[in-house]
Amino acid sequence: MTNQITFDSSSANFLIGDQLSLIAESLIAARDDAYADVELLRSGGEIPEAKQPLDSGFIDLPQRLLDGEDGLLDRMESTAKTLGGKIDRLVVLGIGGSYMGLRALFESLCDPYHNELARSARGNVPKLYFEGNNLDNDTLSSLLNLLKSQCLNPEELAERWGICVISKSGGTLETAAAFRLFRNALEEYYGADSDFSRQLVVPVTGETGKLRDLSNALGYEATFPIPDGVGGRFSVFTAVGLFPAAVLGIDIRAMLQGAADVTESCRTQPLGENPVLDYIAACHLLEQDHEMDIRVLSTWGNRLEAAGLWYDQLLAESLGKHERGATPLTVVNTRDLHSRGQQHQEGKRDRVINNLTISEASGNPISVPTVDERLDQDLLNRLAGKTIPELLQAAITGTNKAYADDNRPTTDMQLPKLDAYGMGQLLQMLMLATTIEGRLIGINPYGQPGVEAYKNNMGEILYG
Ligand code: PA5
Repeated sequence: MTNQITFDSSSANFLIGDQLSLIAESLIAARDDAYADVELLRSGGEIPEAKQPLDSGFIDLPQRLLDGEDGLLDRMESTAKTLGGKIDRLVVLGIGGSYMGLRALFESLCDPYHNELARSARGNVPKLYFEGNNLDNDTLSSLLNLLKSQCLNPEELAERWGICVISKSGGTLETAAAFRLFRNALEEYYGADSDFSRQLVVPVTGETGKLRDLSNALGYEATFPIPDGVGGRFSVFTAVGLFPAAVLGIDIRAMLQGAADVTESCRTQPLGENPVLDYIAACHLLEQDHEMDIRVLSTWGNRLEAAGLWYDQLLAESLGKHERGATPLTVVNTRDLHSRGQQHQEGKRDRVINNLTISEASGNPISVPTVDERLDQDLLNRLAGKTIPELLQAAITGTNKAYADDNRPTTDMQLPKLDAYGMGQLLQMLMLATTIEGRLIGINPYGQPGVEAYKNNMGEILYG
């Protein structure tokens, strides 16, 4: 099939080629182990201590949703349509796994100037704002002030705004504090007992917890669950990512299909034709045999930066345990060739450059224009007629050649198109790769026990 994500590590073969066949068996065993975790989770049987927590529910979730489980997908789509038709601004509150996936989808699939466009040019969907992902007084007050100053008449669609608050635990301070602030502002605007105050807030949260209790007490018309067995950073294909993505008009069914297809190909395809396993094999061998434990996700084009940051979080929180785990680093090229290129070319030999490219540009290719030769001091008339994608391709090829000439390994992950189906494939591929690598190296990829230390200290400082 031509619309499938591909992975090629042949440019790293000079370092790993001989070893690939040696890890084939353990890699397949790790894959089978990760997939067997789905059955273990669903069986309700006892989970061995070494596997706790077990958050493998993300693996088959895309297909289950597409198959109509609990009518959830239909409900998300219809609620999203209703909410999107009632407001012109959506404020999404959440942190970590409860917002980074949506940000990746927003930046990759919506117009880069989405919030600047007229509603009709946005596909009649709301503008999007993120908060509750930090403790930053300046950005909080700016957004509250923006809403206060621009939204004066709640009867006007263009001046109505709503909230989607997302927290699996329901107890994360950053999000909870922001929710209280924005809820107060919203109730002040529409009236605490108004229909709008019940309809224009949609909580997405776990089955139990403080946010669930609060939502019940406030009587919101729609809420969505985050299922047990799906961890925060693996939750992009639950309502955490899907519901707000649907509000933005993103084709969430196509996205889920992309994810389900990758799950199936990872389960069935042999090494060498299996992008997930091939990616793990290359990264793992470079780390294990060549001490290359920095993984640079080298994205080409601005729209994949947030997907890279989402992956940084996924890999760092999942495998950064027991004083082990590779360090992820996202770069956006060609931009970062001018900030990090020097180190990648001549610095320590401790990294692999994993390129992530898109085969086909989404918009019409723009060409370099010709100018009168009296004003050709920049000598760009030599390039006149060349398109921006052609210049980008020259940069990609030239950069890879420079690394190869200095025996620095690169790999190539390629998405045919930057669309919902492609993003579904990409995100699911990276979640599966992280999980299977965890099983391969004996680190439980789920849970993030280390994050508790700061939270506990902060709690003691604040509450005594
Ligand atoms: O991956 C994770 O579990 C974390 O990054 C969480 O998503 C993050 O801490 C937010 O947690 P919660 O959704 O409970 O507010």
